[in-house]
Amino acid sequence: MRSFLLAAVLLLTAALADSTTSADSTASVITLTGSQTTLDQDTRSFTYPSVTTTITLTSSTASASNGTGLSTSTSDSVTVLVGGHGTTSLPPNATATTASNSTSTTSSTPLPSNTQPCNGYVEFCDRSYSNITYVTAHNSPFDVKGNLASNQLYPVTTQLNDGIRMLQFQVHYQNGTMYLCHTDCSLINVGTLQSYLTTVAKWLDENPYEVITILMGNYDFVNVNNFTAPIVNSGLSKYAYEPPKIPMGLDDWPILSDMILMGNRAVIFMDYNANQTEVPYILDEFTQMWETPYSPTDPDFPCTEQRPPGISDEEISTIMYMANHNLNVDVSIEGFSILIPNTAVINSTNAVSGYRSLGLTAENCTATWGRPPNFLLVDYYNYGNFPGSVFEVAATINNVTYNGHCCGSNTSGALSLQSQFLDKACWMFILATASIVFNLV
Ligand SMILES: *[C@@H]1O[C@H](CO)[C@@H](O)[C@H](O)[C@H]1NC(C)=O
Ligand SMILES: *[C@@H]1O[C@H](CO)[C@@H](O)[C@H](O)[C@H]1NC(C)=O
Ligand SMILES: *[C@@H]1O[C@H](CO)[C@@H](O)[C@H](O)[C@H]1NC(C)=O
Ligand SMILES: *[C@@H]1O[C@H](CO)[C@@H](O)[C@H](O)[C@H]1NC(C)=O
Ligand SMILES: *[C@@H]1O[C@H](CO)[C@@H](O)[C@H](O)[C@H]1NC(C)=O
Ligand SMILES: *[C@@H]1O[C@H](CO)[C@@H](O)[C@H](O)[C@H]1NC(C)=O
Ligand SMILES: *[C@@H]1O[C@H](CO)[C@@H](O)[C@H](O)[C@H]1NC(C)=O
Ligand SMILES: *[C@@H]1O[C@H](CO)[C@@H](O)[C@H](O)[C@H]1NC(C)=O
Ligand SMILES: *[C@@H]1O[C@H](CO)[C@@H](O)[C@H](O)[C@H]1NC(C)=O
Ligand SMILES: *[C@@H]1O[C@H](CO)[C@@H](O)[C@H](O)[C@H]1NC(C)=O
Ligand SMILES: *[C@@H]1O[C@H](CO)[C@@H](O)[C@H](O)[C@H]1NC(C)=O
Repeated sequence: MRSFLLAAVLLLTAALADSTTSADSTASVITLTGSQTTLDQDTRSFTYPSVTTTITLTSSTASASNGTGLSTSTSDSVTVLVGGHGTTSLPPNATATTASNSTSTTSSTPLPSNTQPCNGYVEFCDRSYSNITYVTAHNSPFDVKGNLASNQLYPVTTQLNDGIRMLQFQVHYQNGTMYLCHTDCSLINVGTLQSYLTTVAKWLDENPYEVITILMGNYDFVNVNNFTAPIVNSGLSKYAYEPPKIPMGLDDWPILSDMILMGNRAVIFMDYNANQTEVPYILDEFTQMWETPYSPTDPDFPCTEQRPPGISDEEISTIMYMANHNLNVDVSIEGFSILIPNTAVINSTNAVSGYRSLGLTAENCTATWGRPPNFLLVDYYNYGNFPGSVFEVAATINNVTYNGHCCGSNTSGALSLQSQFLDKACWMFILATASIVFNLV
């Protein structure tokens, strides 16, 4: 008789399905034990049931609702997210190594295979944040149709639903308030930073397995404290990632499932005047990321380093980087010289391959620096040689198969994947697994 004892410390968050704000939900640390798994002798695989329906929760203790308290209860060894039932194979010699003993927690103990995607792909869950290439919406908030100073067609919620995972934009200081304007507030002003971030925070509420990055341009070089109220009041600060060290090198970043587990799902960078002593969750961009030429008008898109100036090749190899792949033309509007997207050639600029394409830039950068860019910044991400070609480029770099969920979606690919685990009465999600103990008698 073989039984499998699963002991796990789970973070379980439950909320009513019709509740739209997860701010009301409470998070608990729950110790879970059970022996519901079965071992198939022929295939040497075991199946574990859906944790939402069959595993008994034996004890629970209240914890901080903001996730901070969780870091003490869960350990850094957490590597697997379990979103439901699944199957995994045992090492061929598992019996030989464990049968003679009652319990074993050797490193060869197999973990259940994860079925819950992180940022849309199961493969990303145990990958470092800095080992993934993300598509960036250049000037994400500027989506005013017919306005030359716009850079995107779809609003931010649609951008995120379609797979954009970095939002970049300028913030202007006007009359004591932070506004989202491009070059000048008289040309385009889409409202306050706080209003925009409220939309972003709501999307994070509704998409619990997604990690995003925000890159703010401090256009007027104002004091960093001007940014805290919009971030706090929007509800975004509860998701803000606070790095354990300053600056974060390539190898310092956590894996996505750890960020999801801890609830730190928004990495916020600012280009100028960040002060991580003063505001720890607004990360200084240029000590932790470099960029290829900014606002390029050169269709060759050379993958040279431009900002920060004066960084050594050695330093370049130790931090993340962004490829600016938005092709501009210089125009004069209302007396302002402004660089606007070259929309005439946007389909080839955002294409998978060919002259001036995003795909070619990615290849060129990878060949030049020995690793791919972390961020691919584009205008009008929905255009290309086919809708979603920019995401195809990122998927190729990331060695995953693009899900083709593009463009203009008003539902998230992540959300629909998650719905297979929905329970009628409530939705629950469980992030696991702290430890698994074999009990082979
Ligand atoms: C989270 O909750 C803990 C304990 O209640 C508190 O000390 C901490 O300041 C809170 N953090 C945030 C970011 O609200
Ligand atoms: C299983 O263990 C035996 C004895 O240690 C060893 O000879 C054999 O190569 C192992 N098989 C595999 C697939 O590791
Ligand atoms: C079981 O494992 C423990 C700890 O590794 C060891 O002390 C004990 O001798 C083992 N028992 C058998 C029967 O191998
Ligand atoms: C992730 O790391 C692997 C192994 O070093 C490397 O081959 C791959 O290009 C990296 N991907 C990204 C996006 O950094
Ligand atoms: C700032 O105040 C001035 C003077 O009242 C006004 O003209 C301008 O439109 C305001 N700017 C914004 C962005 O609201
Ligand atoms: C905003 O920035 C301005 C200019 O740097 C500064 O005078 C002001 O004190 C800042 N406001 C806050 C709330 O930090
Ligand atoms: C950053 O903030 C700390 C703490 O408020 C302050 O002592 C320091 O002078 C600031 N650094 C800069 C460069 O403004
Ligand atoms: C990258 O692009 C630059 C500019 O077009 C070119 O000179 C260089 O040869 C390319 N590098 C690679 C490795 O393709
Ligand atoms: C880009 O391609 C789309 C079809 O995907 C087409 O409707 C559009 O006109 C093209 N834009 C340009 C500037 O060629
Ligand atoms: C890409 O993924 C496949 C599995 O889908 C794996 O076999 C292969 O080793 C991966 N390649 C790299 C370079 O990581
Ligand atoms: C979603 O988008 C489709 C077409 O793009 C539209 O018909 C539908 O009304 C939208 N639904 C919501 C809830 O916005």
